[in-house]
Amino acid sequence: MLAVVPRPVTVRVPSKVNLHLAVGEVRKDGFHELSTVFQSLSLTDEVTVAVADEPGVEVEGEGASAVPTGGANLAWRAVEELSRYVGKDTDEPKVRVLIRKGIPVSGGMAGGSADAAATLVGLANLWKLEVSRDELASVAATLGSDVPFMLHGGTALGTGRGERIVPVLTRHTFHWVLAFARGGLATPKVYAELDRLRDTGDPPRVGSAEPVLEALAAGDARQLALLLGNDLQAAAVSLRPGLRRTLRAGVDAGALAGLVSGSGPTCAFLCADAADAVRVAAELSGAGVCRTVRVVHGPVPGARVVNDDEPH
Ligand code: C5P
Repeated sequence: MLAVVPRPVTVRVPSKVNLHLAVGEVRKDGFHELSTVFQSLSLTDEVTVAVADEPGVEVEGEGASAVPTGGANLAWRAVEELSRYVGKDTDEPKVRVLIRKGIPVSGGMAGGSADAAATLVGLANLWKLEVSRDELASVAATLGSDVPFMLHGGTALGTGRGERIVPVLTRHTFHWVLAFARGGLATPKVYAELDRLRDTGDPPRVGSAEPVLEALAAGDARQLALLLGNDLQAAAVSLRPGLRRTLRAGVDAGALAGLVSGSGPTCAFLCADAADAVRVAAELSGAGVCRTVRVVHGPVPGARVVNDDEPH
């Protein structure tokens, strides 16, 4: 009898920006206690999972050469963790993962976490698993702090190390311009730099998330712009002083406000509307303060299977 090989499954997954990122104390496990508001953005990666005799990971697109293939890739760890969770007792799962990157690598936009989340959704579909979203989220949390949010998408409050997610009510779509930097920043280094800055001084700390949640519920971009804040920004700027110029240039170009995305070095600029975002992007790309710019919007859905008839 011929075994039926399931068709490959493609999953689209967003990137994220932290609208609010309060970094608390270092915990016993080395992670920092966080209170953060995530928003998913329309800049995406696509991940295809397929049954294959030659298992492994391939990466194409934006920054692909900087992404590890094989065991060090978070998407491959997702394959291993999910097969363990569902008791597939193979030494090496017979799966091939193709990642098409649109999200900058080590850019503070959770690109690696996004690929891991997409892989979980893809495999659940490929293997026809009867696992709930909650179960996938629990596997996701073992892979990285941002992975549960990348499954979830939308706008959400993250606590713990960022992995405990509660959806946040938002009205309207928000329009953003992203400024990609040359080269990435390693997240652990940025947290370590924040610890160093806090040991030797008093870098700014964001306030409560509550006003941010109110601006989101009202769909008020101007109000939200006044409230954007990221405790990691001082650390990212300390490691990359040039980011200060990028942040200024975005506001000079007409953005309502700008901030470093997550651990950076990508900068995100909130704009009044879609047309303004296009204008800001055009001006920013001529300012020579970043590698490239993108116009995006959020929130968008989390990792989800792309139908064959949808344009990729
Ligand atoms: O969870 P994830 O693997 O994405 O975290 C990468 C690194 O970022 C951690 O090893 C840690 O250095 C830092 N981190 C942290 N506190 C958090 C999340 C991440 O210190 N809440």
